[in-house]
Amino acid sequence: MSLRLAVLASGRGSNFAALLQACAAGHIHGSVVGVFSDKPQSGAMALAAEAGVHAWAMKPNTFETRDAFDAAMFDAIDAVQPDLIVCAGYMRIIGAAAIARFPNRMINIHPSLLPRHPGLHTHQRALEAGDAEHGASVHVVIPELDAGPVLAQVRVPVHDGDTAETLAARVLAREHPLLLASVAAVAGGALRLDADAIRWQGAPLREPLRLGDDDRLHAAP
Ligand code: GAR
Repeated sequence: MSLRLAVLASGRGSNFAALLQACAAGHIHGSVVGVFSDKPQSGAMALAAEAGVHAWAMKPNTFETRDAFDAAMFDAIDAVQPDLIVCAGYMRIIGAAAIARFPNRMINIHPSLLPRHPGLHTHQRALEAGDAEHGASVHVVIPELDAGPVLAQVRVPVHDGDTAETLAARVLAREHPLLLASVAAVAGGALRLDADAIRWQGAPLREPLRLGDDDRLHAAP
């Protein structure tokens, strides 16, 4: 079965672009059936138009409430019948009612080694904390922000003299292969988001998988 992916994005859309390319190249057995945004003018929306991907974007302030925006966006997501929803730089908090419509079917890529640094400004916060290592995590979305079970992580070193920008660039370069390997593993069935547990190659996952230098996921040592 080819995985139907819905992508949520608010910004430049480099993770979305990486997903599109990986599907086109056959590295992910699936396709992006829709992209959804709270930012009609975003780079991600421009990319969707260029690539001819079905897109939905509305400004949240044109809705009466947060929940009304979420309900409209998740109705649009529902209409494309996704198997997996990927938050790829979606910068708006999603309400619990919307998340409950797709239990265990929504993942997010977050630029830190969760549970360290949930929320915003993760690169600056890693520097201020004096972290020797930083990275990115792919996790299941639950109502509590950036707190769902972590599927996989990639680690990058923090260098002397790093700024938030240099560190962000080093992380972003590894975020893309992390997200692609995670989605490919779901599409291929090696990684399963079951209601009772996340399973990697049939066994419940106890610790996040790690992306190796070979761009493949490995069980934690
Ligand atoms: C990525 O670094 C992603 O991890 C981060 O936003 C960036 C989006 O880049 N996501 C979050 O901070 C979510 N809280 P992109 O638009 O180029 O994919």
